[in-house]
Amino acid sequence: MKNLSWGILGTAGIARKAMLPALREANGCCLTAVASRDIVRAEAMAGDFGIPRAYGSYEALLADPEIDVIYNPLPNHLHVPLTMQALAAGKHVLCEKPLALTLADAHKVTAAAKSAGRVVAEAFMTRHHPQWLRAHELLRAGRIGRLTGVQALFSYCNDDPANVRNQKDIGGGGLYDVGCYAVDTARFFFGAEPEAVSCTIDLDPDFGTDRLTTGAAHFPGGGQLSFTVSTQSALVQQLTLLGTEGYLVFDAPFNCPADHAARLTIDSGADLLGSGRELLTCTPADQYRLQAESFVREVQQNRTAPATTGDILGNAAVLEALTRAAQSHRWEAITTTTGQAGD
Ligand SMILES: NC(=O)c1ccc[n+]([C@@H]2O[C@H](COP(=O)([O-])OP(=O)(O)OC[C@H]3O[C@@H](n4cnc5c(N)ncnc54)[C@H](OP(=O)(O)O)[C@@H]3O)[C@@H](O)[C@H]2O)c1
Repeated sequence: MKNLSWGILGTAGIARKAMLPALREANGCCLTAVASRDIVRAEAMAGDFGIPRAYGSYEALLADPEIDVIYNPLPNHLHVPLTMQALAAGKHVLCEKPLALTLADAHKVTAAAKSAGRVVAEAFMTRHHPQWLRAHELLRAGRIGRLTGVQALFSYCNDDPANVRNQKDIGGGGLYDVGCYAVDTARFFFGAEPEAVSCTIDLDPDFGTDRLTTGAAHFPGGGQLSFTVSTQSALVQQLTLLGTEGYLVFDAPFNCPADHAARLTIDSGADLLGSGRELLTCTPADQYRLQAESFVREVQQNRTAPATTGDILGNAAVLEALTRAAQSHRWEAITTTTGQAGD
């Protein structure tokens, strides 16, 4: 099979830090073009990463017939419009999280991918890390009994008004930026959709974005997610999977560096002093590279649905319900339909 040619929208920090280095190494991938609103920035990024083509507009990149896959790491409000344009141009799209800010938009994108016969996926690189796959296997093998709780904490401090995370009108705020990881994590490990959610937020008075958000969700069978995310607290990431016969703790659940051997602690809960505790170490892995290679396999196997599209809809439905719950101060039910004809 021929390598897929990738084109990059924008000159985002995440592209520079993680995805471009990963794409340079990934099997089946050829880093072909980058586009920016400013040709000078596009050319600079192309020079830094040895990318053969640079474009001064997103439209010019989408019109390049040799590009197979578009990577979309634009600010959140541009995920859906540019993904729709890329699908219309016949491209497959790997789009940064959260792909959609509303459930209606998620439906639009998944329907467009289906009718174009193209793969669209939301870039939750965590799902590809060996530590997640190992934890999943341990769960399925019953090592912690029945999963009852997923507890996540994801926090950093960024109060730069110019940062995309601190601009409400372009999809900023902690829930969209990192709350989406808690949602995707719980859906992944429970292997189910939650039935209802509750949420409380603290808004930044100047930015109008949520800077501290705590949410909960309950899953069929009684399992629960609880999470706190913050854009203006200390840097920390924690993830615990609680079971009826033990628990699993991740050392670096979401951003484990590629050269670091991820560690999982599994504890039977025999006592509070750790006598039932075992430390498991995973081989170092670049989750962004694994994500790109997995995306290439999806394209090669022509898997336009439903694995990736189901997750896009599921994540959007939960994020939207959390947003509703933060406003209503009540538990909100999850719906994966928009209520529009044809859903
Ligand atoms: N998966 C992960 O690990 C991860 C980590 C960080 C971020 N992300 C996601 O990646 C996306 C980008 O985040 P980032 O921190 O990398 O953003 P960033 O550095 O601010 O980059 C965003 C890029 O989008 C383009 N852009 C177009 N319209 C813009 C606007 N109105 N304001 C600002 N930039 C605009 C700019 O490129 P040009 O001007 O050159 O066109 C800019 O370089 C977000 O969706 C975020 O959730 C994912």
